[in-house]
Amino acid sequence: MANDIQNIINKTELNLQDLSQLLNLEGEEQKLLFRKAEEVQLKYVGNKVYYRGLIEFSNVCSKNCYYCGIRKDNKNVERYNISDDDIVNAAVFAWKNRYASIVIQGGERSDNHFVNRIDHLIKRIKEATNAEIGITLSLGEQTKETYQKWFNSGAHRYLLRIESSTKELYEQIHPKDELHHFNTRLNCLHLLRKIGYQTGTGVMIGLPGQTFDDLARDLLFMKEFDIDMCGMGPYIEHKDTPLYKERHKLWHIGKRFNTALNMIAVLRILMKDINIAAATALQAIDPMGREKALKHGANVIMPNITPTLNRKNYQLYENKPCIDEGAEDCGNCMNMRIELANREVGLGQWGDSKHYFNRT
Ligand code: 5AD
Ligand code: SF4
Ligand code: FES
Repeated sequence: MANDIQNIINKTELNLQDLSQLLNLEGEEQKLLFRKAEEVQLKYVGNKVYYRGLIEFSNVCSKNCYYCGIRKDNKNVERYNISDDDIVNAAVFAWKNRYASIVIQGGERSDNHFVNRIDHLIKRIKEATNAEIGITLSLGEQTKETYQKWFNSGAHRYLLRIESSTKELYEQIHPKDELHHFNTRLNCLHLLRKIGYQTGTGVMIGLPGQTFDDLARDLLFMKEFDIDMCGMGPYIEHKDTPLYKERHKLWHIGKRFNTALNMIAVLRILMKDINIAAATALQAIDPMGREKALKHGANVIMPNITPTLNRKNYQLYENKPCIDEGAEDCGNCMNMRIELANREVGLGQWGDSKHYFNRT
């Protein structure tokens, strides 16, 4: 059996069935997969891990995704919106600590005021950091004009998870209305790529009703779309969301975690030179979850630099780590963790996706 697995791992082209089988591995066979993923990682992207200081600047969201703790209709969340000054300060903190790159993430909104505010912020951050900090946006679905405007102002990467590339599953975890169309999301990914962003996507792993074939299709989707970056992690239930009532369908948490690690390892083998993030959700399940991902494929990690005061209100899922820590704590903690994983922090470098440059 181990021989069969080794044969699959060594194939030059992996089909749906191969991928599906690899995603299911545990124990000794999983070690074979991990070994190969680490080998590919070291050969193609090296042993550096790049920091993306994560600023979760607002939990105000106009959408109602069934899985998400900060969905619009959840009345148990205290809404916040960090001031522009505090956002710029967080970016400067990242810059001074030589993170070289930040992610601006928040609930999705598309009113003019919001679009202009972000635009203004991008310019301010560039100015305050001598144009040295890289800016990634994670602000959901927007119009072509908005994406272009933010790009022109200096944002150069964009994260928009497809959540699930299986349309039926996507539709089961979102309301059936104008705001939550699968095709709109897909179209946004195409727009981002066309404009010239380094484009990142990802999925949730272990959604109610999701199968290994669904996940294998997600990997093939990423390959076919030719993404530059990926961030994906386990689905974690949140009691104040509609999807919570489907929890009887869930794989147990250990299996979701294990499959998430396998997804990262297999994606590294499938798309050798992209950037893959060790998702924070991994750490909500296993205290060493992110380090494990860094060992077998992931080369990006996102230290939280959101002011501590606001962290407790940005819980997309339960058990989120780093709620009571500050940016300094997470920075120190992370340096230590990366050393433990036998990796080196790529300080002072943007750590852009090699794939982006190989394809453009
Ligand atoms: N569990 C895991 N990930 C979640 N996200 C939202 N809600 C959850 C949850 N309950 C992820 C989505 C989104 C990203 C910002 O957070 O994939 O794109
Ligand atoms: Fe809003 Fe994103 Fe949560 Fe959906 S997943 S409700 S868009 S913050
Ligand atoms: Fe935040 Fe360890 S990374 S406390």
